[in-house]
Amino acid sequence: MTETLDPAAALAAAGELRRIYLSAFGAPGYDEPPERADQFVEEQLPTHAAREGFKLVLTRSGAEATGFAYGYTGERGQWWSDRIAEAAPEIADEWVGGHFEFVELAVVAEAQGRGVGASLHDVLLAGLPHTKALLSTYVGDRPAPRLYRRKGWQVLLPNLTPDSALYGMQLSR
Ligand SMILES: CC(C)(COP(=O)(O)OP(=O)(O)OC[C@H]1O[C@@H](n2cnc3c(N)ncnc32)[C@H](O)[C@@H]1OP(=O)(O)O)[C@@H](O)C(=O)NCCC(=O)NCCS
Repeated sequence: MTETLDPAAALAAAGELRRIYLSAFGAPGYDEPPERADQFVEEQLPTHAAREGFKLVLTRSGAEATGFAYGYTGERGQWWSDRIAEAAPEIADEWVGGHFEFVELAVVAEAQGRGVGASLHDVLLAGLPHTKALLSTYVGDRPAPRLYRRKGWQVLLPNLTPDSALYGMQLSR
């Protein structure tokens, strides 16, 4: 079951989100430490939950939360949008501002490979008022970039940073 949480409910679910985050991003090949999961729930999530257009979707299997995805309306003046504008002004002119910023997608290790990530992706984007969306993800052959390409995202910038690429998608309304 996948539900959409408003900002208050998302912050109230911080413990579950931290556990999912740590399982997904703490895995070998990602190797993020527990402190990064703390920073995610204590700083990143509250900052993003306060932004216009914030939407978070959470999947449960029984009582267990197994995955989440979220984003918000991206605007210039936000740290990430400004990084894109610095790296690629011509892409930013077309894509940045009023877009949906797809920030995180994470599924606990035990539940991966069963379509939970694909479903979270679809529910997050369904019904958005935005006409375009942006995300950045790892370069290389990994589950996340494979999933995004399968879903129709286009690579806008293959090396936004040395280890991440920028993807865009036109959204039908
Ligand atoms: C990326 C991520 C969210 C994908 O979640 P997931 O639930 O495993 O995603 P899916 O199950 O929809 O797809 C994963 C794979 O399982 C396959 N799959 C899905 N359902 C399946 C089924 N019923 N039977 C067999 N295979 C299946 C998909 O085809 C896909 O295969 P591929 O990796 O070879 O392309 C997950 O791997 C993750 O949390 N990774 C770490 C964090 C991360 O990278 N997040 C994105 C950062 S931007």
